[in-house]
Amino acid sequence: MKSFKVFLLVGLLIGAMGIMSMAATFSIYDWWTAGGEAQAIATVLNMYHQAYPDVTIVQNPVAGGAGVNMQAVIKSLIFAGVPPTTFQVHAGWEMYQYASANLLQPITNLWQSEGWTNVFPQRIQQLCSYNGQFYAVPMDVHRANMVWYNKAIFDKLGLTMPTTIQGFINMLPKIKAAGYTPIALGDSANWTTAMLFEETLLAVAGPDKYNQYFEGKITASDPAVQQTIQYFKTELQYVNPNHASLTWDQACGLLVNGQAAMTIMGDWANGYFMAAGWKPNVDYGGVAVPGTEGIYNLVVDSFPIPVGAPDVQTGYDWLKLIATVPAQAAFNQIKGSIPARIDVPTTGFNPIQVANMEALKKDVLTASAVHGSEAPVAFVTDWENALTVIQYHPDMSLQACVNLLNMTAQQDNLAGTVASANVNY
Ligand code: GAL
Repeated sequence: MKSFKVFLLVGLLIGAMGIMSMAATFSIYDWWTAGGEAQAIATVLNMYHQAYPDVTIVQNPVAGGAGVNMQAVIKSLIFAGVPPTTFQVHAGWEMYQYASANLLQPITNLWQSEGWTNVFPQRIQQLCSYNGQFYAVPMDVHRANMVWYNKAIFDKLGLTMPTTIQGFINMLPKIKAAGYTPIALGDSANWTTAMLFEETLLAVAGPDKYNQYFEGKITASDPAVQQTIQYFKTELQYVNPNHASLTWDQACGLLVNGQAAMTIMGDWANGYFMAAGWKPNVDYGGVAVPGTEGIYNLVVDSFPIPVGAPDVQTGYDWLKLIATVPAQAAFNQIKGSIPARIDVPTTGFNPIQVANMEALKKDVLTASAVHGSEAPVAFVTDWENALTVIQYHPDMSLQACVNLLNMTAQQDNLAGTVASANVNY
């Protein structure tokens, strides 16, 4: 009788363990809530559900483009010791801040056993690793240096996209005189204004000086940065008056409703336009910002596993899924971006994406500071705020703008922080 009871107890325990493992939870944080991006993540979560039907998926979307709100939430959860299973993070400095504090699990073994070092470009591998270990898996490659335009307005005004930044600047008064907003901007969060500066800097300074600026090796006193400040101030005179009350996607909406001719935005705008029912190269065009042809300014969304992640196996399964060809194809076709893998067929991607897939193979690669890859996060935050000061004080002299940007870099010890980090460029 006693042995029967023990037998029964063991049986119940095994059964309970089975139920417990069946009830594993996969919790994920992301900031993909706008048109296009929300559908893209839903598609891959659905693929995950198909593959692991017993896992409970808890998606925690936190609205706010570029992760402006979600990043604060994640930091709090991680510091409080209650991290989710995984979360969206920009590969590069945004990820390094966690990896350097030992808050992420190294996943070098997984990278090796899955053969990912053969399918992701070298630069992206660098951005996903810190101090010799991999910590994240890339979901996509976005291109920050894109300008989007309303084709009907361009046709009506007889415009073609110029190939230089000076040509771009020259075109703005003509568009305004015709009654359209030349550059749609939605800077209710100031990263979008900073993108105007960042992509203009890339056009004026070229990739080497661009990198040097964000590594603190040249300052805002450099003639190329000074020229960028002047173009930036001019661009800001040609944005929609209600820019401060709009988000990035609402600014894209100004193109769709025919009010604005252009916007400078990463290719998540491509996903937004498709979701709005616009046809690429028919209703809208998207090309490299004039003067940045041949340069690919990377934005890489990736996923890590935090130390102490609950139901960690569900996280590893997620990483394995998002690295596959079908998941990278399904996600990026909707998102407007391109796969981080180089071996995904172009079938099913729109012509702007196909052009970017070709460009990624041959372009000079830089990385976006605004989107967490190229420069230390604390510096980028202060630098974006400095640009906002310049934006709202159009009478500031060029020298005062230079001084403000230089002070920001000095106070955050940009050069020293970059030089002492275990980071590959
Ligand atoms: C970027 C992110 C993109 C897109 C965009 C707007 O930072 O990398 O995937 O979501 O913000 O939210």
